[in-house]
Amino acid sequence: MRTIAVLTSGGDAPGMNAAIRAVVRTGLDKDLEVMGIQRGYSGLLNGEIFRMDRRSVADIIQRGGTMLRTARCEEFKTEAGRKKAYNILKTFRVDGLVVIGGDGSFRGAQLLSKLGIATIGLPGTIDNDLPYTDYTIGFDTAINTVLDAINKLRDTSTSHERVSVIEVMGRNCGDIALYSGLAGGAESIIVPEKGYDQNTLCRTILEGKMRGKMHNLIVLAEGIGGAEELAKKIEEITGMEARATKLGHIQRGGSPTCMDRILASRMGYKAVELLSQGKSSRVVGINGGKIVDMDIDEALAVPRKFNVELYKVANVLSY
Ligand code: ADP
Ligand code: F6P
Repeated sequence: MRTIAVLTSGGDAPGMNAAIRAVVRTGLDKDLEVMGIQRGYSGLLNGEIFRMDRRSVADIIQRGGTMLRTARCEEFKTEAGRKKAYNILKTFRVDGLVVIGGDGSFRGAQLLSKLGIATIGLPGTIDNDLPYTDYTIGFDTAINTVLDAINKLRDTSTSHERVSVIEVMGRNCGDIALYSGLAGGAESIIVPEKGYDQNTLCRTILEGKMRGKMHNLIVLAEGIGGAEELAKKIEEITGMEARATKLGHIQRGGSPTCMDRILASRMGYKAVELLSQGKSSRVVGINGGKIVDMDIDEALAVPRKFNVELYKVANVLSY
Protein backbone atom coordinates (compact mmCIF):
# COMPACT_ATOMS: atom_id res chain seq x y z
CA MET A 1 0.00 0.00 0.00
CA ARG A 2 1.61 3.25 -1.12
CA THR A 3 -1.21 5.55 -2.10
CA ILE A 4 -4.64 5.87 -0.53
CA ALA A 5 -7.60 8.12 -1.34
CA VAL A 6 -10.63 9.38 0.53
CA LEU A 7 -14.08 10.50 -0.63
CA THR A 8 -17.44 11.42 0.91
CA SER A 9 -20.64 10.15 -0.70
CA GLY A 10 -24.44 10.39 -0.28
CA GLY A 11 -25.97 12.85 2.20
CA ASP A 12 -23.44 14.92 4.11
CA ALA A 13 -23.11 14.67 7.89
CA PRO A 14 -21.36 16.82 10.52
CA GLY A 15 -18.09 15.13 11.41
CA MET A 16 -17.22 14.07 7.87
CA ASN A 17 -14.48 16.72 7.87
CA ALA A 18 -13.04 15.36 11.11
CA ALA A 19 -12.96 11.90 9.49
CA ILE A 20 -11.22 13.23 6.36
CA ARG A 21 -8.64 14.97 8.55
CA ALA A 22 -8.01 11.75 10.48
CA VAL A 23 -7.58 9.69 7.29
CA VAL A 24 -5.19 12.21 5.75
CA ARG A 25 -3.02 12.70 8.82
CA THR A 26 -2.92 9.03 9.77
CA GLY A 27 -1.97 8.13 6.20
CA LEU A 28 0.84 10.69 6.13
CA ASP A 29 2.03 9.45 9.51
CA LYS A 30 2.37 6.02 7.93
CA ASP A 31 4.34 7.51 5.00
CA LEU A 32 1.51 6.93 2.55
CA GLU A 33 0.61 9.31 -0.22
CA VAL A 34 -2.94 10.56 0.38
CA MET A 35 -5.30 11.79 -2.34
CA GLY A 36 -8.66 13.53 -1.91
CA ILE A 37 -11.48 12.81 -4.33
CA GLN A 38 -14.10 15.52 -4.78
CA ARG A 39 -17.86 14.97 -5.20
CA GLY A 40 -17.99 11.29 -4.26
CA TYR A 41 -18.14 8.64 -6.97
CA SER A 42 -19.22 11.29 -9.45
CA GLY A 43 -15.98 13.25 -8.98
CA LEU A 44 -14.01 10.01 -9.11
CA LEU A 45 -15.45 9.30 -12.57
CA ASN A 46 -14.46 12.84 -13.63
CA GLY A 47 -10.92 12.43 -12.32
CA GLU A 48 -11.38 15.11 -9.63
CA ILE A 49 -8.44 13.83 -7.58
CA PHE A 50 -5.76 15.87 -5.84
CA ARG A 51 -2.91 15.26 -3.46
CA MET A 52 -3.49 16.17 0.18
CA ASP A 53 -1.00 17.22 2.84
CA ARG A 54 -1.30 17.99 6.54
CA ARG A 55 -2.16 21.62 5.88
CA SER A 56 -4.94 20.78 3.42
CA VAL A 57 -6.99 19.47 6.36
CA ALA A 58 -6.12 22.30 8.74
CA ASP A 59 -9.00 24.24 10.29
CA ILE A 60 -11.72 21.76 9.29
CA ILE A 61 -12.29 19.62 12.43
CA GLN A 62 -14.87 22.14 13.67
CA ARG A 63 -16.70 22.56 10.36
CA GLY A 64 -19.94 20.92 9.29
CA GLY A 65 -20.46 19.66 5.74
CA THR A 66 -17.62 18.08 3.81
CA MET A 67 -14.64 19.93 2.34
CA LEU A 68 -14.50 17.24 -0.37
CA ARG A 69 -18.14 17.91 -1.32
CA THR A 70 -20.49 15.01 -1.84
CA ALA A 71 -22.74 13.68 -4.57
CA ARG A 72 -24.97 10.86 -5.69
CA CYS A 73 -23.91 9.15 -8.91
CA GLU A 74 -26.05 6.84 -11.06
CA GLU A 75 -23.21 5.94 -13.44
CA PHE A 76 -21.24 4.34 -10.63
CA LYS A 77 -24.08 1.87 -10.12
CA THR A 78 -23.27 0.36 -13.53
CA GLU A 79 -20.48 -2.14 -14.10
CA ALA A 80 -19.04 0.05 -16.86
CA GLY A 81 -19.02 3.02 -14.48
CA ARG A 82 -17.15 1.11 -11.79
CA LYS A 83 -14.62 -0.23 -14.33
CA LYS A 84 -13.99 3.38 -15.38
CA ALA A 85 -13.55 4.32 -11.70
CA TYR A 86 -11.07 1.49 -11.26
CA ASN A 87 -9.02 2.65 -14.26
CA ILE A 88 -8.94 6.23 -12.99
CA LEU A 89 -7.81 5.10 -9.53
CA LYS A 90 -5.06 3.04 -11.16
CA THR A 91 -3.98 6.06 -13.22
CA PHE A 92 -3.39 7.88 -9.94
CA ARG A 93 -1.74 4.72 -8.47
CA VAL A 94 -4.37 4.52 -5.74
CA ASP A 95 -4.40 1.09 -4.06
CA GLY A 96 -6.72 1.85 -1.13
CA LEU A 97 -9.87 3.93 -0.81
CA VAL A 98 -11.74 5.19 2.26
CA VAL A 99 -15.42 5.84 1.54
CA ILE A 100 -17.31 7.96 4.06
CA GLY A 101 -21.07 7.58 3.55
CA GLY A 102 -24.12 5.43 4.16
CA ASP A 103 -25.22 1.97 3.07
CA GLY A 104 -25.50 2.89 -0.63
CA SER A 105 -21.94 4.20 -0.64
CA PHE A 106 -20.81 1.01 1.12
CA ARG A 107 -22.43 -1.14 -1.59
CA GLY A 108 -20.46 0.82 -4.17
CA ALA A 109 -17.25 0.37 -2.16
CA GLN A 110 -17.85 -3.37 -1.90
CA LEU A 111 -18.25 -3.73 -5.67
CA LEU A 112 -15.14 -1.63 -6.26
CA SER A 113 -13.12 -3.86 -3.96
CA LYS A 114 -14.06 -6.83 -6.14
CA LEU A 115 -12.25 -5.09 -9.02
CA GLY A 116 -9.05 -4.92 -6.98
CA ILE A 117 -9.10 -1.65 -5.02
CA ALA A 118 -8.88 -2.13 -1.25
CA THR A 119 -11.85 -0.29 0.28
CA ILE A 120 -12.84 0.66 3.81
CA GLY A 121 -16.18 2.30 4.68
CA LEU A 122 -16.82 4.82 7.46
CA PRO A 123 -20.45 5.36 8.52
CA GLY A 124 -21.22 9.00 7.73
CA THR A 125 -24.93 9.76 8.00
CA ILE A 126 -27.12 11.65 10.46
CA ASP A 127 -29.76 8.88 10.32
CA ASN A 128 -27.98 6.30 12.54
CA ASP A 129 -29.54 3.69 10.26
CA LEU A 130 -26.57 1.30 10.01
CA PRO A 131 -27.32 -1.41 12.59
CA TYR A 132 -23.80 -2.90 12.64
CA THR A 133 -22.60 0.18 14.55
CA ASP A 134 -24.05 1.77 17.69
CA TYR A 135 -23.55 5.25 16.25
CA THR A 136 -22.86 6.86 12.88
CA ILE A 137 -20.82 10.03 12.32
CA GLY A 138 -23.19 13.02 12.37
CA PHE A 139 -26.00 11.51 14.44
CA ASP A 140 -24.99 13.13 17.72
CA THR A 141 -24.76 16.59 16.15
CA ALA A 142 -28.12 16.14 14.43
CA ILE A 143 -29.93 15.12 17.63
CA ASN A 144 -28.44 18.09 19.46
CA THR A 145 -29.64 20.40 16.69
CA VAL A 146 -33.12 18.89 16.98
CA LEU A 147 -32.97 19.19 20.76
CA ASP A 148 -32.24 22.89 20.49
CA ALA A 149 -35.28 23.29 18.23
CA ILE A 150 -37.48 21.28 20.61
CA ASN A 151 -36.43 23.52 23.52
CA LYS A 152 -37.41 26.62 21.56
CA LEU A 153 -40.68 25.16 20.37
CA ARG A 154 -41.49 24.18 23.95
CA ASP A 155 -41.30 27.86 24.98
CA THR A 156 -43.78 29.07 22.43
CA SER A 157 -46.03 26.00 22.73
CA THR A 158 -46.28 26.56 26.49
CA SER A 159 -47.07 30.27 26.10
CA HIS A 160 -49.92 29.51 23.72
CA GLU A 161 -50.92 26.16 25.26
CA ARG A 162 -50.61 24.59 21.84
CA VAL A 163 -49.77 21.25 20.38
CA SER A 164 -46.51 21.28 18.44
CA VAL A 165 -45.71 18.63 15.84
CA ILE A 166 -41.99 18.56 15.00
CA GLU A 167 -40.96 16.57 11.93
CA VAL A 168 -37.40 15.28 11.94
CA MET A 169 -35.26 13.39 9.40
CA GLY A 170 -34.15 9.78 9.50
CA ARG A 171 -35.44 8.24 6.28
CA ASN A 172 -36.83 4.90 7.54
CA CYS A 173 -35.05 5.00 10.87
CA GLY A 174 -36.66 6.55 13.95
CA ASP A 175 -33.47 7.11 15.96
CA ILE A 176 -33.29 10.90 15.48
CA ALA A 177 -36.90 11.19 16.70
CA LEU A 178 -36.38 8.74 19.56
CA TYR A 179 -33.20 10.25 21.03
CA SER A 180 -34.16 13.90 20.59
CA GLY A 181 -37.72 13.21 21.73
CA LEU A 182 -36.58 11.54 24.93
CA ALA A 183 -34.00 14.25 25.67
CA GLY A 184 -36.47 17.02 24.83
CA GLY A 185 -39.22 15.60 27.05
CA ALA A 186 -41.64 15.19 24.16
CA GLU A 187 -45.11 13.94 25.04
CA SER A 188 -45.20 11.59 22.03
CA ILE A 189 -42.55 10.12 19.75
CA ILE A 190 -43.78 8.72 16.45
CA VAL A 191 -41.40 6.46 14.54
CA PRO A 192 -41.76 4.17 11.51
CA GLU A 193 -40.62 1.16 13.57
CA LYS A 194 -43.65 1.44 15.87
CA GLY A 195 -46.35 3.17 13.87
CA TYR A 196 -49.18 4.99 15.67
CA ASP A 197 -52.89 5.35 15.95
CA GLN A 198 -54.36 8.83 15.48
CA ASN A 199 -57.22 8.32 17.93
CA THR A 200 -54.94 7.03 20.69
CA LEU A 201 -52.60 9.98 20.08
CA CYS A 202 -55.45 12.51 20.33
CA ARG A 203 -56.77 10.85 23.48
CA THR A 204 -53.27 11.13 25.03
CA ILE A 205 -53.21 14.85 24.13
CA LEU A 206 -56.61 15.50 25.69
CA GLU A 207 -55.83 13.50 28.81
CA GLY A 208 -52.53 15.37 29.16
CA LYS A 209 -54.41 18.68 29.01
CA MET A 210 -56.82 17.46 31.72
CA ARG A 211 -53.84 16.61 33.95
CA GLY A 212 -52.54 20.15 33.52
CA LYS A 213 -49.95 19.77 30.75
CA MET A 214 -49.23 23.23 29.38
CA HIS A 215 -48.19 22.07 25.93
CA ASN A 216 -47.93 18.91 23.90
CA LEU A 217 -44.82 18.22 21.94
CA ILE A 218 -44.93 15.48 19.33
CA VAL A 219 -41.73 14.45 17.58
CA LEU A 220 -42.56 12.80 14.29
CA ALA A 221 -40.02 10.93 12.18
CA GLU A 222 -40.22 11.49 8.43
CA GLY A 223 -41.30 8.37 6.61
CA ILE A 224 -44.49 8.06 8.62
CA GLY A 225 -46.45 11.01 7.24
CA GLY A 226 -46.04 14.78 7.30
CA ALA A 227 -46.23 17.13 10.29
CA GLU A 228 -48.60 19.57 8.59
CA GLU A 229 -51.17 16.89 7.89
CA LEU A 230 -50.96 15.49 11.42
CA ALA A 231 -51.30 18.94 13.04
CA LYS A 232 -54.49 19.57 11.01
CA LYS A 233 -55.92 16.22 12.05
CA ILE A 234 -55.13 16.93 15.72
CA GLU A 235 -56.91 20.32 15.55
CA GLU A 236 -59.89 18.65 13.93
CA ILE A 237 -60.18 15.87 16.50
CA THR A 238 -59.15 17.62 19.75
CA GLY A 239 -60.23 21.18 19.03
CA MET A 240 -56.83 22.34 20.33
CA GLU A 241 -54.56 24.64 18.37
CA ALA A 242 -51.70 22.78 16.72
CA ARG A 243 -48.67 23.96 14.75
CA ALA A 244 -46.31 21.98 12.53
CA THR A 245 -42.55 22.52 12.13
CA LYS A 246 -40.48 20.59 9.64
CA LEU A 247 -36.84 20.94 10.67
CA GLY A 248 -35.46 19.75 7.30
CA HIS A 249 -31.86 20.23 6.25
CA ILE A 250 -30.95 22.32 9.31
CA GLN A 251 -30.37 18.87 10.84
CA ARG A 252 -27.59 18.12 8.37
CA GLY A 253 -25.44 21.16 9.11
CA GLY A 254 -23.55 22.78 11.94
CA SER A 255 -20.32 22.37 13.79
CA PRO A 256 -19.94 18.72 14.88
CA THR A 257 -20.31 17.94 18.58
CA CYS A 258 -17.41 16.69 20.67
CA MET A 259 -18.82 13.13 20.39
CA ASP A 260 -18.94 13.27 16.59
CA ARG A 261 -15.44 14.73 16.28
CA ILE A 262 -14.00 12.02 18.51
CA LEU A 263 -15.95 9.25 16.77
CA ALA A 264 -14.87 10.49 13.33
CA SER A 265 -11.24 10.86 14.41
CA ARG A 266 -11.10 7.35 15.88
CA MET A 267 -12.82 5.83 12.86
CA GLY A 268 -10.62 7.65 10.33
CA TYR A 269 -7.53 6.47 12.18
CA LYS A 270 -8.83 2.89 12.20
CA ALA A 271 -9.62 2.95 8.46
CA VAL A 272 -6.02 3.73 7.57
CA GLU A 273 -4.72 1.15 10.02
CA LEU A 274 -6.86 -1.47 8.28
CA LEU A 275 -5.65 -0.44 4.82
CA SER A 276 -2.03 -0.53 5.91
CA GLN A 277 -2.60 -4.03 7.30
CA GLY A 278 -3.74 -5.08 3.82
CA LYS A 279 -7.43 -5.35 4.79
CA SER A 280 -10.18 -4.59 2.30
CA SER A 281 -13.94 -4.60 1.92
CA ARG A 282 -14.53 -3.72 5.57
CA VAL A 283 -16.47 -1.07 7.43
CA VAL A 284 -15.59 0.58 10.71
CA GLY A 285 -18.09 0.90 13.55
CA ILE A 286 -18.37 1.41 17.29
CA ASN A 287 -19.82 -1.20 19.66
CA GLY A 288 -19.99 -0.62 23.39
CA GLY A 289 -17.44 2.19 23.08
CA LYS A 290 -14.91 0.06 21.17
CA ILE A 291 -13.95 0.76 17.58
CA VAL A 292 -14.57 -2.39 15.52
CA ASP A 293 -14.44 -3.47 11.89
CA MET A 294 -16.56 -5.88 9.92
CA ASP A 295 -16.91 -7.29 6.42
CA ILE A 296 -19.12 -4.97 4.32
CA ASP A 297 -21.60 -7.69 3.29
CA GLU A 298 -21.92 -8.93 6.86
CA ALA A 299 -22.37 -5.39 8.15
CA LEU A 300 -25.10 -4.64 5.63
CA ALA A 301 -26.90 -7.87 6.57
CA VAL A 302 -27.16 -6.99 10.27
CA PRO A 303 -30.90 -6.64 10.96
CA ARG A 304 -32.27 -3.30 12.09
CA LYS A 305 -32.96 -3.26 15.84
CA PHE A 306 -35.15 -0.56 17.32
CA ASN A 307 -34.21 0.54 20.84
CA VAL A 308 -37.38 -0.62 22.59
CA GLU A 309 -35.96 0.20 26.02
CA LEU A 310 -35.43 3.89 25.18
CA TYR A 311 -38.88 4.05 23.62
CA LYS A 312 -40.44 2.60 26.76
CA VAL A 313 -38.51 4.98 29.04
CA ALA A 314 -39.62 7.93 26.90
CA ASN A 315 -43.26 6.84 27.10
CA VAL A 316 -43.19 6.35 30.88
CA LEU A 317 -41.44 9.66 31.55
CA SER A 318 -43.64 11.73 29.25
CA TYR A 319 -46.85 10.86 31.11
P1 ADP B 1 -25.89 6.72 1.21
O1 ADP B 1 -24.49 6.29 0.97
O2 ADP B 1 -25.99 7.88 2.16
O3 ADP B 1 -26.80 5.57 1.55
P2 ADP B 1 -26.97 6.74 -1.49
O4 ADP B 1 -27.83 5.55 -1.26
O5 ADP B 1 -27.56 7.89 -2.25
O6 ADP B 1 -26.45 7.38 -0.14
O7 ADP B 1 -25.66 6.23 -2.23
C1 ADP B 1 -24.61 7.12 -2.56
C2 ADP B 1 -23.98 6.69 -3.86
O8 ADP B 1 -23.41 5.39 -3.70
C3 ADP B 1 -24.95 6.53 -5.05
O9 ADP B 1 -25.23 7.75 -5.69
C4 ADP B 1 -24.17 5.61 -5.94
O10 ADP B 1 -23.17 6.30 -6.65
C5 ADP B 1 -23.48 4.68 -4.93
N1 ADP B 1 -24.32 3.47 -4.78
C6 ADP B 1 -25.47 3.34 -4.07
N2 ADP B 1 -25.96 2.09 -4.18
C7 ADP B 1 -25.12 1.41 -4.97
C8 ADP B 1 -25.10 0.09 -5.51
N3 ADP B 1 -26.05 -0.80 -5.20
N4 ADP B 1 -24.08 -0.25 -6.32
C9 ADP B 1 -23.10 0.63 -6.62
N5 ADP B 1 -23.08 1.90 -6.17
C10 ADP B 1 -24.06 2.30 -5.37
O1 F6P C 1 -29.74 10.24 4.81
C1 F6P C 1 -29.70 11.53 5.33
C2 F6P C 1 -30.93 12.30 4.97
O2 F6P C 1 -30.81 13.60 5.51
C3 F6P C 1 -32.25 11.65 5.38
O3 F6P C 1 -32.52 11.84 6.75
C4 F6P C 1 -33.22 12.36 4.46
O4 F6P C 1 -34.37 11.57 4.22
C5 F6P C 1 -32.43 12.50 3.19
O5 F6P C 1 -31.06 12.41 3.57
C6 F6P C 1 -32.63 13.78 2.44
O6 F6P C 1 -31.87 13.74 1.29
P1 F6P C 1 -31.54 14.95 0.31
O7 F6P C 1 -30.17 15.38 0.58
O8 F6P C 1 -31.64 14.35 -1.05
O9 F6P C 1 -32.55 16.01 0.56
